[in-house]
Amino acid sequence: MTILVTGGAGFIGSNFVLDWLAANDEALVNVDKLTYAGNPENLASLQGDPRHLFVQADIGDFARLSALLHDHAIRAVVNFAAESHVDRSIHGPEDFIQTNIVGSFRLLEAVRGYWHELPQDAKLAFRFLHVSTDEVYGSLEKTDPPFTERNQYQPNSPYSASKAASDHLVRAYHHTYGLPVLTTNCSNNYGPYHFPEKLIPLCIQNALAGKPLPIYGDGRQIRDWLYVKDHCSAIRTVLAKGKVGEIYNIGGWNEKANLDVVHTLCRILDELQPRPDGLSYAKQITFVTDRPGHDRRYAIDAGKLQRELGWQPAETFETGIRKTVGWYLEHQDWVQNVLSGDYQSWLEKNYAGRG
Ligand code: NAD
Ligand code: TYD
Repeated sequence: MTILVTGGAGFIGSNFVLDWLAANDEALVNVDKLTYAGNPENLASLQGDPRHLFVQADIGDFARLSALLHDHAIRAVVNFAAESHVDRSIHGPEDFIQTNIVGSFRLLEAVRGYWHELPQDAKLAFRFLHVSTDEVYGSLEKTDPPFTERNQYQPNSPYSASKAASDHLVRAYHHTYGLPVLTTNCSNNYGPYHFPEKLIPLCIQNALAGKPLPIYGDGRQIRDWLYVKDHCSAIRTVLAKGKVGEIYNIGGWNEKANLDVVHTLCRILDELQPRPDGLSYAKQITFVTDRPGHDRRYAIDAGKLQRELGWQPAETFETGIRKTVGWYLEHQDWVQNVLSGDYQSWLEKNYAGRG
């Protein structure tokens, strides 16, 4: 038995691959295009492991994906591959449309063709798990209840709109063709291997480098944070026990304002690696021009996943964020290797005009 994972060299995908192979012996084909966000170094510990086959390919490459599905008799696909950064989607939405919409469509077509030819028992057992985001539901007011699976889709950024489109395609392939799909919509993740363009790793890195910690707008925007390993365990649970055609929201019941998250990071860094001058890293917090169309609040009600499939996160925000800061302090070599020329030009593009 073998599963196929897409985007397995990115942040969540590589954590999933590492956890999957640590938890069981089922082989895994890992398809990743290796965009700026894909990093084979995340998978270095798997070198020589015969259970892991890495293939550099685009999910939009129908012929390549069809061949891989057949050649490895794949029994399930977990689709992580995507363009994932909201700010990049604002500066240049094209790649988001190509990968998240067109790429997902071509992948679904390859899977549909393969699945259609399977013998009846394999057909019944097959699963296509699509990894999506809470951002498809739009923005909540302060007093609104958290998103359930029944919330209306109201995506506000090119990123969330492109993810919403892919969710709709996945749904349609189930209703129209009977493809056995599962969709998960998760809140903001954090943890090891998080690319330092996103709030938490960016602020850890900037703090250590003595640079400003850029807070968009007033910093009171709320995100619901989940430790990445908990996201991975939720996906394993949904893959094993989820009901075909269903959506499962995944979250950690950890709503935090951005400013509070950054203050927490500073407090932990002050303790673990104090600034040479003895002042707090919080001194580096800088308010900058807000993100256009910035969603005010996301919050996930993960009650369905808990009630129906028995999943629970293992980490609280306090334990998870401490582990994360510790990981970045211990893996400065990993960080230095991703701070390439491309990363520097992104920082210039995103932060230069914010004042
Ligand atoms: P990421 O940007 O770190 O990684 C994406 C990976 O996909 C990279 O390895 C990249 O090389 C690969 N990729 C991009 N385009 C591809 C293509 N056309 N073909 C093959 N591979 C391609 O993203 P992430 O944060 O790990 O997110 C993974 C998935 O989880 C995404 O679908 C995202 O929408 C979803 N998600 C992310 C979060 C979060 O907080 N990061 C939360 C909820 C859902
Ligand atoms: P991010 O990590 O980009 O995730 P998302 O936009 O998918 O939620 O951002 C998390 C929050 O942090 C979001 O409200 C935007 C904010 N933010 C900043 O305030 N400063 C920054 O430099 C970045 C990258 C994000």
